[in-house]
Parts: sequence; C-alpha cells; structure tokens
Amino acid sequence: MIAAFTPKVLAGKHLLITAGPTFEPIDPVRGITNLSSGKMGYAIAEAAYRAGAQVTLVSGPVAMPAPYGVQRISIQTAQQMHDAVMANLLTQRQDAFIAVAAVADWRVANASDQKLKKNSAGDLPQLEFAQNPDILASVAAMDDAPYCVGFAAESEQLLEYGAAKRLKKNVPLLVGNIGHQTFGKDDNELILFDEHGHHALPRASKTALAAMLISELANRLPH
Ligand code: CTP
Ligand code: CA
Repeated sequence: MIAAFTPKVLAGKHLLITAGPTFEPIDPVRGITNLSSGKMGYAIAEAAYRAGAQVTLVSGPVAMPAPYGVQRISIQTAQQMHDAVMANLLTQRQDAFIAVAAVADWRVANASDQKLKKNSAGDLPQLEFAQNPDILASVAAMDDAPYCVGFAAESEQLLEYGAAKRLKKNVPLLVGNIGHQTFGKDDNELILFDEHGHHALPRASKTALAAMLISELANRLPH
C-alpha cells in the first residue's frame, strides 16, 4: 500500500543503479571482495521504482531478492559490472546513474583455473593484482552522460575526502558515509556533496534515507 502514497516524482525517468560488492576470484573456490550488504543500493532501487522510475539494478553477489518491479542484472566481478553498465547504456537512455556498489579496486591478475593446494613446504601463493576499470568515472566521462551520483565510504576525514572525490570523479552529486559505521546495518548517516558544498541528511533507516535521496535526485533532474 505504501507505493500508492509515494509521490511519483520520477515518473517517466530511467535509472541505472549499481549495488553490492564485487567478487574477484583467486581460484574456483576463493576470492577477494569488499564489505557491502547491498542494502543501501537495493533500498534506493526500490524507492526509485516506487517514485515511478524504470529501474535497472546491476548487482554483485548479495543475499537479497531483486526489489519488486526492478530489473536486476547479476554479476560477480568489477569487469562484468563495468561491461553490464556500458552495454545497458548503449541500448537504453538513462536519466541517472547511481553508483552504490562497493567495487573491488583490484582483481587478481594471475587467478588460477584450478584450486590452489597447500604443499608440505608451506609455499605461499604469489598473487598479482591488476586495477579494475572505474565504472562511475567511465560513465561520467561519456558524451551525453546520465546525471551521475557517486557514493563514498570513507574511514575518516569524510568532509575533505568526500568533496575531493566528487571533483575527482567529475560527478554533480556524491553521497558520503563513514563505512564501518554502516556496513550491514539497517540505518546510516549520509552527507551529500554537490557544487554548493555539503549537507547531512538526518540519521535514519536505509529505507528512509533512500526515499530522501530519491527526492533530492528528482529535484536535480530536468523536469
Ligand atoms: N566506483 C566505480 N568503479 C570502481 C571504483 C569505484 O564505479 N572501479 C564507484 C563506487 O561505486 C562509488 C564511487 O566510485 O560510487 C567511489 O568509490 P570509492 O571506492 O570511494 O572511490 P575510489 O575512486 O575507488 O577511491 P578509493 O581509493 O578511496 O577507494
Ligand atoms: Ca575504491
């Protein structure tokens, strides 16, 4: 019933959202990943749908079903997330791109096709890393880019790092939080950085914050 009372501030808009962690294999049974439950991204996808948008969610491995009404594309690695986002943008005009995913910055360049085995000499695996593509920066750099929203989970100095990251990523809106205070939790505290500076949203559940963010986004998109 809630949906019926949500103002359709995004009616007719198309939104592309990334959420969750990525998983970068080391071998067929192991990998490296980031801390992310996907709750914030999924809450935003659901709020956007309720606000009338057509929502595509590119998601890393999470323990949640796709939100009702949202088209989910499931991926594992950062490269797959990048490719799914770019392929979507080739075929679908999107009004906004919201990068909520906790993307692994590096993948294992020498991942093994076979499970690595311990040996009696105690030899350690020698992992090599390669940098993953920056999905948000790639989208923001496109001609005709959708309105881009970035997220930043920092461990300290959020105000300085948030403002700097918005400029580095070249996005009009960046949403910051202190990562370890929110991982896996149901509530969060968010700070919005835009060309005017920053302001905090009141501490609230991720569901309530998602609705606030959607209304902030709707105010910023051309009507
Ligand atoms: N992001 C992305 N692709 C990447 C890395 C990050 O799309 N390969 C997006 C995230 O989804 C988020 C934003 O960029 O919206 C900021 O991510 P963050 O990890 O905070 O930024 P980085 O530029 O990777 O900087 P850091 O060195 O602090 O990790
Ligand atoms: Ca990063």
